[in-house]
Amino acid sequence: MKDSNFLKEHNARQLWHPMAHPTDSQTNPPVIITGAEGVTIKDIDGHETVDAVGGLWNVNLGYSCQPVKDAIAAQLTDLPYYSTFRGTTNDKVIELAHELADFFAPDGMTRSFFTSGGSDSVETALRLARQYHKVRGEPGRVKFISLKKGYHGTHIGGASINGNANFRTNYEPLLPGCYHIPAPYPYRNPFNETDPERLAGLCAAALEDEIAFQGPSTIAAFIMEPILGAGGVIPPHASFMPQVHEICDRNGILLITDEVITAYGRTGAWSGARLWGVKPDMMATAKAITNGYFPFGATMIGEKVAEAFENDTSPNGFIGHGYTYSGHPVGAAAALACLAETKRLNVTENAAARGTQLFDGVRALNEKYAQIGDVRGGHGLMTALECVSDPSAKTPDKDIAAQVQEVAYKNGAMVRASGPNIILSPPLILSEADAAIILSALDAGFAAL
Ligand SMILES: Cc1ncc(COP(=O)(O)O)c(C=O)c1O
Repeated sequence: MKDSNFLKEHNARQLWHPMAHPTDSQTNPPVIITGAEGVTIKDIDGHETVDAVGGLWNVNLGYSCQPVKDAIAAQLTDLPYYSTFRGTTNDKVIELAHELADFFAPDGMTRSFFTSGGSDSVETALRLARQYHKVRGEPGRVKFISLKKGYHGTHIGGASINGNANFRTNYEPLLPGCYHIPAPYPYRNPFNETDPERLAGLCAAALEDEIAFQGPSTIAAFIMEPILGAGGVIPPHASFMPQVHEICDRNGILLITDEVITAYGRTGAWSGARLWGVKPDMMATAKAITNGYFPFGATMIGEKVAEAFENDTSPNGFIGHGYTYSGHPVGAAAALACLAETKRLNVTENAAARGTQLFDGVRALNEKYAQIGDVRGGHGLMTALECVSDPSAKTPDKDIAAQVQEVAYKNGAMVRASGPNIILSPPLILSEADAAIILSALDAGFAAL
């Protein structure tokens, strides 16, 4: 390996980082992570911190998950790659689809379509939604509705349904036929409504209104994250998703849950849909499916959609979509081992307990520091603090978030600053002591302002 001087000198010189300005990455070089164990990461200078980011919402079982590492190594020996395009398959992917049908049976999911990651899983769900309506003889249903503040990855389809201008404006024009309604975000919303339940009703009414305006027969699907993640951890009121589901069903619109973050236990439930007691028509999953060790995803397909395709006798049901790495045997082997370990550890329990500890802890910080305008969480290990420079005007301040992040890092926790939000999404195997380190590092970060 090259020495640390070489690495520091070349840091961000010859590569562009996602979600960063190339010039900024050169002026403020990214932290070089060189090792990890358990829930702890180590940088090039040997500084160790609890990873409160969990990789990127994906390393749910931490960095020392031996069964997943072993499965990957064994699969690389047995069959490092083969295509699943028409005519061939592999043993691991057949087994994985069977496992996933079992895992997601309570959500009504019966089939898998494999992808290389979250953006692909979203794209797949959007495409299959349009095709579903064509197969059923309603080819006019092509539009998508989603939530402002939602994040659905960065393919053109995903960016088009995204609800954050940062991921849209510079890439316009985006896909036509995508419309957005307000998110159930009590701290900021166009209704000035702070009561979560009343706000849920208003947002559901906005969905109803948009559907009526567009015409139900033009709309393919509504897509949402059960808890909005990258947009700053926005859990809707428990009444929201059931209302959305009822509205979609009544109007013949498919409901897609984007569970790239929420599937596999992060919310304290096995899926976000299950958290809210809703059975969607499709689900986009990825990230924790392989504990982040291999790029992989699965779009889960519900009974209704599966039946339409499988009963189709015309050429319309032909799926003209897929990736070279769809059903990659190494990814499938990793996912099988990861699912087994996820279930064995029953990670939902710890996610819920540590999630409550973190949420209570950040609420206590909220009492202490005026620069924390809002705290959100309370459902597993998805927690956020929103930083403001003027609490009464709710002026968002990303510099505060960045400063807190830097000091927290020095004090033992890697947290993620995303705009004015500080987001916590640690591994689900976090201990009580690890959670306490995260909270004390944040405390130090705000105290230093
Ligand atoms: C809800 C959601 N959907 C989609 C994506 C995109 O996933 P990927 O970055 O693996 O393409 C993400 C990534 O964070 C996500 O949080």
